[in-house]
Amino acid sequence: MNSLPAGFASHSLTYLHKLAPEQRQLRYCLFVLLCVFMGGCRQTNSGKAYRIGFSQRTEADTWRKTMRAGMNRELSFYPDVDFIVKDAGGQSERQARQIQELIDQKVDLLIVSPNAARPITPIVEKAYQQGIPVVILDRRTDSDQYTAYVGADNVDVGRTAGVYANQLLQGTGNVVEIGESPGSSADIDRHRGFMEAIGVHPGIRLITKLEGDWDKRSFADRLTSLLTAKPTIQLIFAQNDRTALKAYKVCRGLGLEKQVKIIGVDGLPGQNEGIDLVDRGILSATVLYPTGGKEAIRTAMAILKKQPFKRENKLPITLIDSANVRIMKFQNEKVVEQQVDIEKQQRRINDLNQIYSNQKNTLYFTLASLLIVMLLGGWALYLYRSKQIAYQTLERQNQEILDQKNQIEIVSAQARLATEEKLRFYSYISHEFNTPLSLILTPTEELLQKKTVNPSELKNNLLLIQKNAYRLLRLVDQMLDLRKTDAGKQRLHTAEQDLIAFIRDIVQDFLPKAKKRRIDLQFIPAQQTLPVWFDSEKLDKVIVNLLSNAFKYTPGGGLIHVRLSVIDEQVQIQVTDNGEGMTPDEQAHAFDLFFSGSRPFNLSKGLGLALSMEFIQLHQGDINVQSEKDKGTTFTILLPLGNKHLSPSEMNGSPTRQQSLIDLDDDDIDATDSKPAKQLGTLLVIEDNDDLRAFLSTRLSNEFEIIAEASAEKGWERILDVIPDLIVSDVMLPGMTGLQLTQRVKADLRTSHIPVILLTAQGQMEQRIEGTRVGADAYITKPFNTQYLLETIRTTLTNREKWQRRYASDFLSQSGGGNRQDKKFLNELTALIEQNLGDPAFGVEKLSRDMGLSRVQLYRKVQALLNMNVMDYLTDVRLKRAKHLLRETTKPMAEIADETGFNSAAYFTTFFKQHTQKTPSDYRKSSVKA
Ligand code: FRU
Repeated sequence: MNSLPAGFASHSLTYLHKLAPEQRQLRYCLFVLLCVFMGGCRQTNSGKAYRIGFSQRTEADTWRKTMRAGMNRELSFYPDVDFIVKDAGGQSERQARQIQELIDQKVDLLIVSPNAARPITPIVEKAYQQGIPVVILDRRTDSDQYTAYVGADNVDVGRTAGVYANQLLQGTGNVVEIGESPGSSADIDRHRGFMEAIGVHPGIRLITKLEGDWDKRSFADRLTSLLTAKPTIQLIFAQNDRTALKAYKVCRGLGLEKQVKIIGVDGLPGQNEGIDLVDRGILSATVLYPTGGKEAIRTAMAILKKQPFKRENKLPITLIDSANVRIMKFQNEKVVEQQVDIEKQQRRINDLNQIYSNQKNTLYFTLASLLIVMLLGGWALYLYRSKQIAYQTLERQNQEILDQKNQIEIVSAQARLATEEKLRFYSYISHEFNTPLSLILTPTEELLQKKTVNPSELKNNLLLIQKNAYRLLRLVDQMLDLRKTDAGKQRLHTAEQDLIAFIRDIVQDFLPKAKKRRIDLQFIPAQQTLPVWFDSEKLDKVIVNLLSNAFKYTPGGGLIHVRLSVIDEQVQIQVTDNGEGMTPDEQAHAFDLFFSGSRPFNLSKGLGLALSMEFIQLHQGDINVQSEKDKGTTFTILLPLGNKHLSPSEMNGSPTRQQSLIDLDDDDIDATDSKPAKQLGTLLVIEDNDDLRAFLSTRLSNEFEIIAEASAEKGWERILDVIPDLIVSDVMLPGMTGLQLTQRVKADLRTSHIPVILLTAQGQMEQRIEGTRVGADAYITKPFNTQYLLETIRTTLTNREKWQRRYASDFLSQSGGGNRQDKKFLNELTALIEQNLGDPAFGVEKLSRDMGLSRVQLYRKVQALLNMNVMDYLTDVRLKRAKHLLRETTKPMAEIADETGFNSAAYFTTFFKQHTQKTPSDYRKSSVKA
């Protein structure tokens, strides 16, 4: 992190805070990775701990190249050094400038090898004064403001050369000196030392000192002219081996190479270098002048590393002449060999270092990548986990919503079902109330209308009214019980009393009824007495209800047995009959309060049984039913003995029996009327309520012949049997409904002409619409007025007569009302007759067979539609045909008689006259005239 610019880091962090948490995490990861990466980059690119600036006077000559090589070798041990080299090209001003540049570059240490002393001194002092350690190498400045000096003693160099010159000249001779770059300490000191040495021999004379800047032609030219002018010159001291070689070349050019001895300085190994030149006899000797490159670097590093170092490092010098040149050469060769080995190893080390560095970088990169991968992996894992958690939460919420939705759907379906059932229940309740109300209102109205009433008629009507008023009372009572149960307000009020006596009492109430219907009613207890805690009012209702049902569904001569026994601390009461029984479906829903599926609700049964179940369950008992269709039914009640199951508030009843209302017997009412019947036609009454059926039969029998049935199924059989003139049917019927029956009647060719009047509960608009759709001719709403019913029947029949007349007058008319089935019937009938007109044997028998009807059905149908019998209709068709032939053709009588199915012309004439009051020939004449 500290490798990044502070601004970058703070800006980045501020920016991170503005992001959303998830984005922030991602950006943070990338930020960290960037830091790691940048940190890594810094280490590989600039990991140098020190920066050393080296100002070299020139790099052009071998001596200084050797110096650099020595420096580089030493530097290879310090890879953490950044070594900056500036080459002044032998120019002092340039060198001063370059030193300033190095100062500006903030080098940690300066190595200066001055070109000349004076021009370089100020800038070196400046650096030194600024606190930069300065190592002076080889040549000196004019100042002692430096940290260390490395180099040989040039005075000593000059002196050594001078001493050797003395030896060579043996006290006398002329000498020429060729100097270094002027103004350099090397030049000055070497000259001083040389002069000092040769000064001991007065015979030895320095002729001149030439400037040694070997680049300039002046030195060679001047030496040539000097040697030419003074052939006595015996020795040349060149301050370096380069100028020494040049001087030799000048001498050789003049043929003086044997005469003039030459001493050089530097003593470098290599071809045409000092040692080689001495070895080849070109130079007499050379003073080995070490470059100090290695020592300079060592000193600099000691300074930088704050290690002890020497301020003045004087390098040793050696004279090389023919005496030691071989050893020197050999040593040098060895040194060179070693140097090559060292360099090889150095290169190898460098290579290894490079490999190491590469591997290190690779390792860093791999580690960084690994870290990135780990961070990204961790981050991905984190994202995956949070996604997964979010997904799970979402899934859970979805499931909850789905569950709630399902729950709502179930509840709403239940509510819808409950509403539908309740609506149906109420519609049946109203229906159930309507029947007794009709049977109260109708006789009341009749009595009121009559001026005189005979006593038996009065009694019958009053009994009917009383019976139905009781029935209403019982219904209301049950409804109240039901409401209480529904509201959860039904409470138990028990007392301990003898259950056997209690039930025997109830059974006895039913004995008269049983006797009248020759039903074997028995109470069969397993013991004489049995004290039981029960609510007498509720149990009374239950037992009375079960017995009433048993009576309702048991035919005359059947049996109803009530059994009582004790089983496992429970008392078991069974009411068994051998009556109609129930289908499995009816049995399954016997205790349902409302409708179940499409099964019609039977209030008297359903309400009572539902309440019975409630009452028994209040007693913590159970009630169930076993039944088989057409075999009989057994209701079983189980009640717990004792009173442990009862709370104190439930044990406050009275041990008396409050008698329930039992249906009055139908037999009490004389339903037949003594009035003689005035038969206006046959009426079929279909009504499941026995009282209403009986009542209607009685009232309508004054004018009609009445057939009565309790179900639509039986009604249909009778319809086909007798083809009644009109049907009066209740809509709500067990099994096939009044609507279904109407549809069947209107769809059947045999019965389609029969008018149907439907009896329905108040406000059943859907039923009226449905009834109209299926072809009902009229509606009477319960409770109805008998007079109104009679009027409706009469009107319907009068309308029917109008139809008949219309059909009869124009039997093929397609216009006008009438139902489609009837028109179709008449068309078929007429077509059949016309096809067989020529057949005298064609009569009702064949006609009914061809029409697919029985004789009675055909007779009744034709009578109903055309108000004439079939034979009359046949005759009618024949006559019409005959008239047509008489009018439109000239066919002889015999032929017309034959075509219209008469055996002889004579019979045809008689028949024709009988029906038209004209003979056929008169008819033909009159029609021609007309
Ligand atoms: C090279 C050189 C050497 C000499 C040294 C003295 O530039 O002239 O030959 O020995 O410098 O500083």
